[in-house]
Amino acid sequence: MQQEMILLVTLFGMLCVAIPFILIARSTDSSVTPTSMFDDSSRWKLFWILMILGVAVTVATLWVWPHRVVAGPSSQTVNVTGHQWSWEFEPKTVKAGSPVIFNVHAGDVNHGMGVYDADKRLLFQVQAMPGYVNRVEHTFDQPGTYQILCMEFCGIGHHVMTADLTVTAADQNQEASQ
Ligand code: CUA
Repeated sequence: MQQEMILLVTLFGMLCVAIPFILIARSTDSSVTPTSMFDDSSRWKLFWILMILGVAVTVATLWVWPHRVVAGPSSQTVNVTGHQWSWEFEPKTVKAGSPVIFNVHAGDVNHGMGVYDADKRLLFQVQAMPGYVNRVEHTFDQPGTYQILCMEFCGIGHHVMTADLTVTAADQNQEASQ
């Protein structure tokens, strides 16, 4: 839904830019000798090539908008609730190599769920909000202990709002089937 909306808004925005351009181009005097290397017809050709290219690139790149979360047969699901000032989540252990869908919400105020690897590199983040469930998908490549930190200032205990998520090695039979 969000994805289709973004696509429509983008295409509408492109039309808003293109229409005045077309109107101005149509109203110009074509009897004037063009001074550039392009004559009038090749300029129109170029315009339409760029238009089609622009629409194609927009549709192709927004189509795979990364926030589209679809549960597959190998997906794991973790339900996360942020509280002042702790993370409650179930299960606490997931497997590497297959997608994990995090359903994230907040029990009180806004929090930000940031997941870091052992080198303290941020892998992904998602907003934890009261009244909403935000979904994000991530596949952990490596087993290990990952840290969840709060990324939205949520009061005096914000900095202690951390938790560990354990990622175990992928199933042997699952790896064999991939
Ligand atoms: Cu929760 Cu900061």
